[in-house]
Amino acid sequence: MLIQKPSEISSSEITPEHVYLSRNHFIKAAGGIGAALAVASCQRWMGATKIEENQQPPSSKALFDELGDPLTPYSSITTYNNYYEFGSDKQSPAERAKTFRTSPWEIVVDGLVRNPKTFGLEDLLRIFVQEERIYRLRCVEGWSMVIPWIGFSLAELLREVQPLSHADYVRFETVYAPGQMQMQNIKTYPWPYQEGLRIDEAMHELTILATGLYGKNMPPQNGAPIRLVVPWKFGFKSIKSIVRIELVQEKPLTFWRSIDPEEYGFFANVNPDISHSRWSQQSERRIGEISRRRTLLFNGYGEQVAHLYAGMDLRLDY
Ligand code: MTE
Repeated sequence: MLIQKPSEISSSEITPEHVYLSRNHFIKAAGGIGAALAVASCQRWMGATKIEENQQPPSSKALFDELGDPLTPYSSITTYNNYYEFGSDKQSPAERAKTFRTSPWEIVVDGLVRNPKTFGLEDLLRIFVQEERIYRLRCVEGWSMVIPWIGFSLAELLREVQPLSHADYVRFETVYAPGQMQMQNIKTYPWPYQEGLRIDEAMHELTILATGLYGKNMPPQNGAPIRLVVPWKFGFKSIKSIVRIELVQEKPLTFWRSIDPEEYGFFANVNPDISHSRWSQQSERRIGEISRRRTLLFNGYGEQVAHLYAGMDLRLDY
């Protein structure tokens, strides 16, 4: 399990002193109240006191995920992006999203719920404990990263609105802002970007809404101000810049599936044995590494999530 509570581990046991000190400094700067933990630390901060943009992210040199994989550098995470609203290449989003307006921001949570609500971003930062979660991100294209997200459990948000018993799926929608997102003017794509999860996947403790990374506010190219992160699924499920979360009864139509249902499954669980129609998924290129590495079933989170798919034929329901 990735999430460790501050009392369970002393970061000075696992972190070289200079990194520990710099993280300790970071947590003070961030107004945090948790202990500094190297692996999946659990720290809290209020939105208003997050690290300012001009401060450097904390040293990450000696930090690893629970498999011992090093974190991908901040500079790579923020310059190699998939964000089609800002361009279909990896470099354009960082450049073109610079002026994207992320404040004020609201998320509507409605549909099959007892208590529909609209949350301002500040409400979400105030109501829900923000934790650091170090997760691997595996893109369907065959590359991957290890990212220290900051965010909170989607389940906690959903509990606030009280889903009805026949709410079997959750649909997520990205903002529609063609004035700011130039690619949304290209009508061959089914804008706005949409994604979906089955309700038990949405309620799983690994599923988070992320509001930052490396202890900083979420960069616009990574989906500011708030995005989904589902670490055992291909990255396209982790929809960015969310404005609506709707509880529904039917499996929602999603962006990539409406473009090509053969190539992009609804479940999209990372699975080395199920090839994409144009390439194998057996291996991946970790950004920053030269040789390819073996892709892990459920992206290495099988112990936590395999039970969600018991009895399903993953080859048919991919
Ligand atoms: N969300 C929106 N709205 N638009 C997108 O193009 N791309 C997806 C996902 N979320 C995408 C999106 C894909 S394909 C991937 S791999 C991840 O975002 C990439 O996230 P990153 O740029 O933060 O690494």
